[in-house]
Amino acid sequence: MTEVTETKPEIFFPKEVVDKRVRELAAEISRDYGAKDLLVVGVLKGAFIFMADLIRSLTIPCSIDFVRLASYGGGSTSSGEIRFTKDLEIPIAGRDILIVEDIVDTGLTLSRLVEELKGRRPASLRVCAFIDKRERRQVPFTADYVGFTVPDGFIVGYGLDYNEKFRFLPDVCVLRDIT
Ligand code: IMP
Ligand code: MG
Repeated sequence: MTEVTETKPEIFFPKEVVDKRVRELAAEISRDYGAKDLLVVGVLKGAFIFMADLIRSLTIPCSIDFVRLASYGGGSTSSGEIRFTKDLEIPIAGRDILIVEDIVDTGLTLSRLVEELKGRRPASLRVCAFIDKRERRQVPFTADYVGFTVPDGFIVGYGLDYNEKFRFLPDVCVLRDIT
């Protein structure tokens, strides 16, 4: 694998394009949930910037909580295992839950997370993914709200990392050399 020090992120979606899309998603979510008592669950760390922007564009109130799942261990492909390293703090039984995740790639992480959280009997459970890499699915998974659909390619910036690097970049970028 190419060392990250040799790779230079190229802008894929500039910040203005991202901001506009996030506002559109927030409008759609606000319309769909209306007067419901929405609990937005962010998946750390990748979703933190997206979620912060998204909830500030909602026109309805919401509560927030986070989960953190055991990561890939530094690589760029999914292991298929999920483990909570930080669980929810708010009980979700009977609540309307919107999971906010950075990327759906193989689909393994989100399908397992959804399965786990559905077992806790929420009133409803939907998923909003900032980026959908649809071509890379290993298990069927469809997010209810998607920011951008992208073909294969490793995405960084706007909260997304490669080996904990590049999360701070304001634009959504691609690392061309990473597969
Ligand atoms: P999945 O289980 O393969 O769907 O993995 C999804 C997780 O892998 C995401 O939540 C990201 O943390 C990570 N991931 C997958 N593709 C990328 C990428 O292109 N950039 C950054 N993180 C990624
Ligand atoms: Mg993630």
